Amino acid sequence: MGKVHLQDNDTTEKKTEFSLVRAKDTWRRKLGKNVNKDTVDCVSAAKIYEVVTVKDTTWTVVCPIVFTYKVTETQDLLDPNNDTLLLGHISDPQQLEEIKKSNKSLQRFIVVDQEVYKIYGPKLTEYLETNNVLYKILALPTTEENKSMDMVLKILEEINNFPLDRRTDPIIAIGGGVCLDIVGLAASLYRRRTPYIRIPTTLLSYIDASVGAKTGVNFANCKNKLGAYIPPTAAFLDLSFLQTLSRRHISNGLAEMLKMALVKHRGLFELLEKHGRMLLDTKFQAHNSGYGQNLLQTASQATHIAITTMLEELAPNLWEDDLNRLVDFGHLISPALEMKVLPSLLHGEAVNIDMSYMVYVSKERGLLSEEEKQRIIRCMVGMELPVWNKECTMELIQASLQDRLKHSGGLVRMPLPVGLGQAEIFNNTSYEILHSAYEKWCDELNVSSGSNCDP
Ligand SMILES: NC(=O)c1ccc[n+]([C@@H]2O[C@H](COP(=O)([O-])OP(=O)(O)OC[C@H]3O[C@@H](n4cnc5c(N)ncnc54)[C@H](O)[C@@H]3O)[C@@H](O)[C@H]2O)c1
Ligand SMILES: [Zn+2]
Repeated sequence: MGKVHLQDNDTTEKKTEFSLVRAKDTWRRKLGKNVNKDTVDCVSAAKIYEVVTVKDTTWTVVCPIVFTYKVTETQDLLDPNNDTLLLGHISDPQQLEEIKKSNKSLQRFIVVDQEVYKIYGPKLTEYLETNNVLYKILALPTTEENKSMDMVLKILEEINNFPLDRRTDPIIAIGGGVCLDIVGLAASLYRRRTPYIRIPTTLLSYIDASVGAKTGVNFANCKNKLGAYIPPTAAFLDLSFLQTLSRRHISNGLAEMLKMALVKHRGLFELLEKHGRMLLDTKFQAHNSGYGQNLLQTASQATHIAITTMLEELAPNLWEDDLNRLVDFGHLISPALEMKVLPSLLHGEAVNIDMSYMVYVSKERGLLSEEEKQRIIRCMVGMELPVWNKECTMELIQASLQDRLKHSGGLVRMPLPVGLGQAEIFNNTSYEILHSAYEKWCDELNVSSGSNCDP
């Protein structure tokens, strides 16, 4: 662009664009967009724009920041012969080679959900001992009620007492979404940003919390009100953790999987419609299930689609700058519902109740047929998910949508299914539609929180 003189009524403005180049260990501004790369060591992607008016001078810095992170589905993560847990986040082959050659012990600070530690603690300890790791394991009661800044500070104090090198020693979080969210926030605060690794042990965190960039804790009685958009260096996913998870928590995770199916992937919906119950019964474990190869294929197909569809939506919008997000389906009313009834509803259960109501809104707007609506509700009930809750009142729905208007740029941006496996965002759902959908939803589904539709 170079130097431009603009005449703007009675003010004169001088705008200048600078590139940034490095030569001999120092960065300097260079006028204009095009820089001869042969004469400098390096050209930055950052720019500085200088605007001088009669009144003042403003420098605008444009600094593109790139986040790179891996999501790896693997097996036998805690087998001492598998080095993924310790080295799987490293992409540079030379760096990997150097670490493997050197005899120096690796250092790892590990935060693990207390319940997960009770089951997997001995295996984890054996893994670290066998691999000669200098480690500290911090087992904590990372429950939704404890998902607070206090817990973050407790972790930070312990990290501070550990000889961690933030360039080489990522903090490891092992547990469900609560543990991963809290540790992620602690890591993004420690020394302004310390790399961390997520190891999900619940289905919900396997397909959702591990895949994206968000960290957070509850604050001022609001879900995840404090947090950061800092992705982990890597997430290592091993389905075998799910074998010890309760049936209710498998069902809970299936709700987020169904969300992706309903907004983006008809094939995944049909898979859950047909095999959702089998996945629930077997906890995604092929061995000893009697289903053998068929289950293995179905389970990996389901997680694979859920993860890739989620990544498609998240990667171009990591910091959620675009407010039109299909992945918000099921998350308009559920945050208030979840906080209101805590701890009686799990996250995925609250999400499912929200989705169930929205399916009625879609039907009422003529976006879904009666048959499609019934198929969706039947699928939810088949996976033992709640489809109605008495605390989800019309007042709560209206208050949630009002809140959404406030925080979503004045538009409600309501994702609604427009057929099986596809959805669009709507801003114009009238109170009459919301209300008549609510009445039908209550009439048809409030039977002991089950459904009138035959599962
Ligand atoms: N960051 C994100 O993008 C994101 C996305 C979705 C949800 N979340 C958050 O995740 C949280 C919900 O996560 P969750 O459903 O995983 O709940 P959770 O972390 O509370 O874990 C559920 C329960 O299962 C136990 N558990 C975990 N793994 C186990 C295992 N392998 N065997 C036996 N017991 C096990 C835990 O001790 C806990 O009691 C919510 O706070 C939600 O806000 C975050
Ligand atoms: Zn969610």
